[in-house]
Amino acid sequence: MAKWLDNAVFYEIYPQSFQDSNGDGIGDFRGIIQRLDYIRELGCNAIWINPCFLSPFGDAGYDVADYYTVAPRYGTNEDLKQLFAEAHRREMHVLLDLVPGHTSVEHPWFRESMKAERNEYTDRYVWTDSVWESPENMSCLRGISPRDGAVALNFFSMQPALNYGYHRITKSWQQSPDAPGPRATFQAMLDVIRFWLSMGCDGFRVDMAGSLVKNDEEGKGTIALWQKVRAFLDEEFPEAAFVSEWGEPDKSLQGGFHMDFLLHFGPSHYNDLFRCQHPFFSSEGKGDVYAFVEKYRENYEKSERKGLICIPSGNHDMDRLARRLSQEEMKLAFAFLLSMPGAPFLYYGDEIGMRYVEGLTSVEGGYARTGSRSPMQWDNTANNGFSSAAPEKLYIRTDDAADRPTVKAQMADKNSLYHEVRKLIGIRQSRPALQSRGEITFVYAEKNTCPLAYVRSDGRERILVIINPSASECRFDSRLPSGEVLYNYGEAARKEGGTFIVPPCSASFLTV
Ligand code: NOJ
Ligand code: CA
Repeated sequence: MAKWLDNAVFYEIYPQSFQDSNGDGIGDFRGIIQRLDYIRELGCNAIWINPCFLSPFGDAGYDVADYYTVAPRYGTNEDLKQLFAEAHRREMHVLLDLVPGHTSVEHPWFRESMKAERNEYTDRYVWTDSVWESPENMSCLRGISPRDGAVALNFFSMQPALNYGYHRITKSWQQSPDAPGPRATFQAMLDVIRFWLSMGCDGFRVDMAGSLVKNDEEGKGTIALWQKVRAFLDEEFPEAAFVSEWGEPDKSLQGGFHMDFLLHFGPSHYNDLFRCQHPFFSSEGKGDVYAFVEKYRENYEKSERKGLICIPSGNHDMDRLARRLSQEEMKLAFAFLLSMPGAPFLYYGDEIGMRYVEGLTSVEGGYARTGSRSPMQWDNTANNGFSSAAPEKLYIRTDDAADRPTVKAQMADKNSLYHEVRKLIGIRQSRPALQSRGEITFVYAEKNTCPLAYVRSDGRERILVIINPSASECRFDSRLPSGEVLYNYGEAARKEGGTFIVPPCSASFLTV
């Protein structure tokens, strides 16, 4: 099922900022279609598009006002359908972004739900039964309508929580997931899923997938709900893929998700790698990979060594890789990202090391995230080739630093990050052991020291990956043999007696 995920390498497109085709300063579907060949040539065979539905864009589209209609600024439903077809023609797959937990306050369901008199949507959202009572552990809106109640919020103040019920019921207004209201919400979301999959979409990245049922600390209610989605998929769309923003693969995979994301918040220690004061992938050699590996291992074991944990290079919610790492350091970061289990996700522009644009005023609910959402840098023409609009009309301003990276310049430079990423994707695509389902065994990951070493295997082949981001040579003892060098950046690691000698700032993939 969803076999295509086995060798998928995803490219995340933030549609506002990728390619504007009609000069209005905002990226759109036609722009994405124009750039599909670029993505394919890089080696990515799948894309994830952030929410592209009708929305007041108070949270960049994560505040949906109509699940069935795309935002006119991106094009029409027909254009999106064409995008699916164009992707499929290139043997690529497309995930849309499903936001099942909340809508915009402008969604017609919510407008109905605010009314004092009972109607079909009264129980579509989580409401308490008095305006003075707050839902436990959640913020809420009160005093916004004649309805006597406060409505629970999932994220920003304009994102009221849809009602999928409560696992543990402690209040009269809390409903069981089996009650008619929560069941109707679930059916409504299933209809949305069916609609887009029927139109040619290949699946969804699912926003905040682990928090649909409330008072559900162990996730049991939410897991049960997703299992029903999976049963529906297996029946009607067996090739569809669902990837969760959950961060607990033991739960999400049990819920039937095909893969789960490693998150940059919570206990993952992901930020230790690229985004803390002393990241592991910096050449200063002060970082620590140990806690990350411990946590990764724990999740890997808990999810029966399925390894379906997607590690992103970045995303629209976090700092750009380039905020802390140099182009050279990013090459080693990608040697890691592209040799781990689970499908890798490249955030648009990370393949050229696009920078976080400092000092921007928040755009559409981006706040500090806005600097990671700036327009793609294609070349050195006006607006970096993103749009023909006047610069002041751009959705977010472009990075205009004199030495900013561009696709064009990096394509012309054989030693660029772009070429290294492309090469690494190529190696991954040609070696099943390195792909989503190949096993991983950590060989060396010790406290406050380099390198990081692990073996990927698929029963036919075993590949030892050794990465030393630090500027000093390091070594470790191992009984593993040293075979053919499949890939190296910097000088390849070599074995002397029982010891691997690992040159500074290097990555090696060796058959063992
Ligand atoms: C996670 C999304 O990635 C983020 O951008 C959004 O603001 C929240 N969920 C709320 O939907
Ligand atoms: Ca446009």
